[in-house]
Amino acid sequence: SANSMEAIVSLAKRKGFVFQSSEIYGGYNGFFDFGPLGIELKKNIRDCWWNDMVRRRDDVVGIETSIIMHPKVWQASGHVDGFTDPLVDCKVSKQRYRADQLFFAPVTVDGEVKGYVSALESEDTTADLQAAAETYKRKKALQGTLAPVTAIEFTEATPEQIPLIPSPATGEPGSLTPPRAFNMMFETNVGALRDGSSLSYLRPETAQGMFVDFKPVVDTGRVKLPFGIAQIGKSFRNEITPRNFIFRSREFEQMEMEYFIHEDADWEKAHKDWIQWCWDWLKSIGLPDSHLSLYDHEKAKLAFYSRGTTDIMFKYPFGVQELWGIAARGNYDLSQHAKASGKPQEIFDEDSKKKFVPHVIEPAVGVDRIFLAVLCAAYAEEEITDEKGKTDTRTVLRFSPRIAPVKVAVLPLLKNKEALTDRAKALYQKLQRRYAAFYDETGAIGRRYRRQDEIGTPYCVTIDFDTIEKEGDTFTLRERDSMAQKRITEAELFALLDEQVY
Ligand code: GAP
Repeated sequence: SANSMEAIVSLAKRKGFVFQSSEIYGGYNGFFDFGPLGIELKKNIRDCWWNDMVRRRDDVVGIETSIIMHPKVWQASGHVDGFTDPLVDCKVSKQRYRADQLFFAPVTVDGEVKGYVSALESEDTTADLQAAAETYKRKKALQGTLAPVTAIEFTEATPEQIPLIPSPATGEPGSLTPPRAFNMMFETNVGALRDGSSLSYLRPETAQGMFVDFKPVVDTGRVKLPFGIAQIGKSFRNEITPRNFIFRSREFEQMEMEYFIHEDADWEKAHKDWIQWCWDWLKSIGLPDSHLSLYDHEKAKLAFYSRGTTDIMFKYPFGVQELWGIAARGNYDLSQHAKASGKPQEIFDEDSKKKFVPHVIEPAVGVDRIFLAVLCAAYAEEEITDEKGKTDTRTVLRFSPRIAPVKVAVLPLLKNKEALTDRAKALYQKLQRRYAAFYDETGAIGRRYRRQDEIGTPYCVTIDFDTIEKEGDTFTLRERDSMAQKRITEAELFALLDEQVY
């Protein structure tokens, strides 16, 4: 599966989905660019979410807030003090690691601890630790049985153990400093002065925009409890160890929704309902049940604002990882902003004739993580046999038609027959007004089908001699996954696309 990740990253680059940022300068760790097909896929993910979350719901409205907000927002929200990751420095290699991504294990020979080995969190941390322990044993020429190596979270190491754990870069024990809190917000200065008074932050989440704009949205008179405010936009975090392609980056995009409920409402039910909604939505864009699971955060380890958080996890090639966090935030944020701004953040409830600060359920997801999940779930290499009995491998991206970057490709059977290309171009132009379509007249038809398979186009239509010579103006429709072909009219093609692309 490490291989499949390599294949996916390489296809993503080759076909124009994702590039490294500033590649001609050697890239810039944690930053990415989206190519011509990538931006279509990303836009489709955003549009599907916006349509389903905002336009097709009567109880959710959308907003867009600024990326740089008043710095007091981040003091009130708790991010200035609490938005930190545990950081360890390696004194020898000068590298930095997130302590909770480091694992270590004691090497025990005949019940006696001889030393420690460490590894970076990976698809198979335990195997990595085991291999490190074997190397350690060989180097030290230790005999006897190695106790089974179990992954232990670095942060759970005792203070006496910490200085003994070797750096994953150098293997040198005693080279790691104890973990310290590292704030992940990017700082900047607003205005001409460059002192403390101009210090500001790039937002680390879009959520605070919804809390700070709670009152103006309520005052529009368009919303009544329970209701949600949604936003899609960029967020920035100075991640210590950006990794796994676009999974954890320093600039990324979030789709968040704050669902405000009555203070006496059954928040656990609302929380459950939103988890279900998110799961169903992921399925609607093509993620299979088999790759999804739930993870309930331990109460003791919850983020500072949360009463309960459940993550929808996705089975990426590098392991099962968080895709979508659904948190019950109580009324923490609105209360904090009321306190810090001196402006009450209450709502008047007609039914109970009471004023109160509503509670909130927050589904928060990253566009880039969904992007990577759909790419991984869609990627397949298949053995196929053609009509002549020849076997071959085809690479195919089985995107759901909802999010596929190109919905339909129009292919005239021959390039040098005007009757064919004219009919094909007319159809292409008509399709383009509604759908991302592609016109391709070069190469053998089989090769053209393969090119579309590789970028995940669900349908190809071929304009052939039957189209122009026989009655009925029908085309060959070729379906990507089954590779089945059938004849179809223009009206039927539009009806099919209308049903599949929504
Ligand atoms: N407002 C709550 C919040 O921001 P979070 O769990 O820190 O919660 C929500 O982030 C989602 O944003 C995550 O589930 C993930 O999908 C995405 N995300 C967070 N950090 C990310 C990063 N460094 N790179 C890509 N996506 C990230």
